[in-house]
Amino acid sequence: MLRPRIFLASLLASLAFVNGGVALPNFVEQRKQTGGGDNTQPVGTNPISKFETKYLGQQNANNSCSHRDLGFTGQLQGKWYAIFGDTLWCSPGVADPSKDPEGFHGLVRDSVSLMTDDLLVVQDMHLNADSPVRHQLQFVPFNADWDEKNTFGFGGTSLVETADGAGAVYYLVNEDDNTLRGAGVGKVELVNGEPTVTQRFGSNGYWWPAPSTPRYGDVATFRDPRSDYIYIWGGAPTSITDFTNAQYVYLARVNAADAYDLSKYSYWWGQDAGWKTGQPHTEFGPTTATVWWTGQGQFVWSDFYDCYIFVHLSPGGGDVLLRTATSIEGPWTPDVKVYTATPIDGGLTYAGVAHPYLDTTGKTLTISYTNNNHIEVIRVTFSK
Ligand SMILES: *[C@@H]1O[C@H](CO)[C@@H](O)[C@H](O)[C@H]1NC(C)=O
Repeated sequence: MLRPRIFLASLLASLAFVNGGVALPNFVEQRKQTGGGDNTQPVGTNPISKFETKYLGQQNANNSCSHRDLGFTGQLQGKWYAIFGDTLWCSPGVADPSKDPEGFHGLVRDSVSLMTDDLLVVQDMHLNADSPVRHQLQFVPFNADWDEKNTFGFGGTSLVETADGAGAVYYLVNEDDNTLRGAGVGKVELVNGEPTVTQRFGSNGYWWPAPSTPRYGDVATFRDPRSDYIYIWGGAPTSITDFTNAQYVYLARVNAADAYDLSKYSYWWGQDAGWKTGQPHTEFGPTTATVWWTGQGQFVWSDFYDCYIFVHLSPGGGDVLLRTATSIEGPWTPDVKVYTATPIDGGLTYAGVAHPYLDTTGKTLTISYTNNNHIEVIRVTFSK
């Protein structure tokens, strides 16, 4: 289905991969030869070797109608929510997205939904007054005082709990003409039972300017259940245009209770230099990065394997990949492919989403991903 150009801009990371995808084998080969001081090379053996993967179906809302992407999960006050990216409303009155006629019927740049007991059903939040089918309002608000417009993208990742029942969402302010302003943090509180962005930090609505600083949080965000930290992965600064160097991903973290205080963030400068508080990366490359060449995704802690798993899709491809590590700083093992999605109408597949709350033993892991603005769900059952 043809979609307006506008929605593609929030896929900037994915698009970069797609644009560069033709050259992938060469870039990967060249990079493998870079050798010492490189934190980002896969190390060790991935313990995931025996598994069975089942396709479960598409996930839709039971109270609204749209086509959308992402849906990164996160917890707030004991409930799990999904943060979607571009949410393209269905035509007025259409309740089933598979019956939506061609054309553009309005959109918001991101939205939030409540996960239900049925993993193929979510309950959309912040609905407008459209009748008979209501549509979602935008989750991260734009602010005209910062010269932001309703066309701006806010590429959000997971909702993470901070303290006192509040949460945070990490987002990337995107002017939607491929100009990224920077990465920032919003405070999320439950208002009338719905997660609501009640404050955005930074004098211009973001903290880390995209040209000079990694876009912390735009690749993955994680509230580590094994510590007090929120970990955030972000892509390279936009001033880095060399293809290989632009694919490095940088790590930062903060105590969850300090998530609204920029000075409390620490930045991982690599295995040798370790964590530096208050010092965002100013050097970029394999010694200060954590990983290289990964799509957006989510971390989980696996009690089954006793390690972290990062769920993501192959950049520019439809493979659902799992890599593991015993600490978020890495090193990470090589990826194991657990599924290959079939692109719908030749569209993009991206964004690995984990649903760990469905099985806390870690014996199974339910995963969703975006397939051309449909959310598809699979379940991996592991065995040893
Ligand atoms: C959607 O699902 C939620 C959770 O199961 C439920 O509470 C709600 O009533 C459902 N809404 C509709 C319109 O079916």
